[in-house]
Amino acid sequence: MNKVRVAVNGYGNIGKRVADAIKKQPDMELSGVTKAHPDYSALEAVHKGLPLYAISNPDAFFEQDIAIHGSLPELLERSDVVIDCSPGGIGRANLAIYSKYPNLKVIFQGGEDASIAPVSFNAQSNFEDAINQNIIRVVSCNTTALCRILSPLHDLFGIKKARVGLVRRAADPNQTKKGLMNAWYPTAHFPSHHAIDVNTVLPDIPITSLAGIAPTTLMHGHMVFIEFTKAPSNVKEIVDVFSENKRVFFVTTKRGIETTAHIKDLAHDTGRSRGDIYEVCLWKDAMGLDEQGELGMHLAIDQQAIVIPENIDAIRAICNLADKETSLRMTDESLGMGRLKIDPLLLTV
Ligand SMILES: NC(=O)c1ccc[n+]([C@@H]2O[C@H](COP(=O)([O-])OP(=O)(O)OC[C@H]3O[C@@H](n4cnc5c(N)ncnc54)[C@H](OP(=O)(O)O)[C@@H]3O)[C@@H](O)[C@H]2O)c1
Repeated sequence: MNKVRVAVNGYGNIGKRVADAIKKQPDMELSGVTKAHPDYSALEAVHKGLPLYAISNPDAFFEQDIAIHGSLPELLERSDVVIDCSPGGIGRANLAIYSKYPNLKVIFQGGEDASIAPVSFNAQSNFEDAINQNIIRVVSCNTTALCRILSPLHDLFGIKKARVGLVRRAADPNQTKKGLMNAWYPTAHFPSHHAIDVNTVLPDIPITSLAGIAPTTLMHGHMVFIEFTKAPSNVKEIVDVFSENKRVFFVTTKRGIETTAHIKDLAHDTGRSRGDIYEVCLWKDAMGLDEQGELGMHLAIDQQAIVIPENIDAIRAICNLADKETSLRMTDESLGMGRLKIDPLLLTV
């Protein structure tokens, strides 16, 4: 089988994880990764044997004795797909570069405006819409989590209205130039862009959201309230929807998982690369239905990891390499998803 050659433009938080995941796929080959700066991360890529390319200034890499394979245009020449993992908002300028390669397919990230691509993508929700497209956008970490939870619940019970409160992490763990130390910073928009972004993937779900930033780096937290058109009669019906879903991970305070710190600790203990949690985490014992049948639940989202499986499925969709079920299965198996479920307590009500 000819493998699809995939370039990762921007070897940062998302790009390095996408690159690792591509190397685990039998139907893909990592054609190369790019860096703007010749720093420790560029060196780490070379030490791992990844073909490294310079985004703009090759001399800067030569001066630091970091071996590069060439420039971004040379990498694009050797690739079928580029995953744009540049800092949010740069994608549109990069699109002008990509458009010089008529056979190149492009996948953007959630930091770009939805108008950059005809399809905003979530693997479970709209895989088929992306098949054979030339440009798509994988939605952000928060939107990915919400789509994974809302889409199957809508299919089964019908969502009359979803309301979401988002507690966003202030910075990623390696970011030292931004972040809150001691305050709650409500985002001054209602609804926040998250509800609007969910509707780019799931236009039929009535949803609203408010967001703010909190002094944490580990994960995002969501508080989700859902009114249904035909409400489930008990919480077990909700648990059953997700119990076989490898992209959802139930956690419980009964095993001491009380905070996002405990979830990250478990991921490190179980040997996950970089302590990554690709699954959306759902506190099973903090989930409930009130007397009117409205559901309330807490989610936790590893912002650096949750979109990685979606990027892999996005490659399969735009290149038409596999159907949805096959792609999700291959991705889940390659990344070891579902294996955090080490305990029957995490599976039953
Ligand atoms: N971090 C998250 O939590 C998260 C979650 C979901 C989605 N996203 C989205 O994913 C995208 C990437 O975010 P990130 O957190 O991975 O950013 P990041 O850690 O800042 O990494 C960005 C990478 O892009 C490189 N770069 C700089 N200028 C570039 C250019 N003109 N073209 C291509 N690459 C360039 C940087 O190179 P140097 O390192 O050499 O400077 C860096 O490696 C954004 O759209 C973001 O919104 C981020």
